[in-house]
Amino acid sequence: MDFTIAENKIRDIISNNHSSDVLSDVVDYLYKNFDAYTWVGVYLIEGEYLILGPWNGKQATEHTKISIGRGVCGSAAQSGKTEVVDDVSKDHRYLACFVSTRSEIVVPIKKNGVVLGEIDIDSDVSNSFNESDVVFLEKVADMLSKHIC
Ligand code: SME
Repeated sequence: MDFTIAENKIRDIISNNHSSDVLSDVVDYLYKNFDAYTWVGVYLIEGEYLILGPWNGKQATEHTKISIGRGVCGSAAQSGKTEVVDDVSKDHRYLACFVSTRSEIVVPIKKNGVVLGEIDIDSDVSNSFNESDVVFLEKVADMLSKHIC
């Protein structure tokens, strides 16, 4: 999937969607259109925790509530910076969800510098996420930030 086409499509999905399904529609689009994205979810900040919102993938994760600061997800929420893990077996922070996962990206969703949530994507292939994925997903996160209170 071409990133520019995907970015435009997601912009369309968001601007034509006046329901509360924006997050799940974007999650579904990412999951269905990027082969390397094996599991796609959005976590939202509630107090000191990340709470799992919409997700798509073959399996549910047991990590539906993660303390800020814990795991790769909690680290990204704390720092406000995108985390790319090329090989999850080498990252001591990694909280395992699926035995098949090899790499992961977590992109904070921020409004005025405040983290509201994040996009979390697992891949069954190592080194799945390059700079183009980072730029693309940071744009998606920015678009989503306008739809989260
Ligand atoms: N691996 C994440 C936990 C979430 S699952 O990937 C869905 C982490 O280390 O924070």
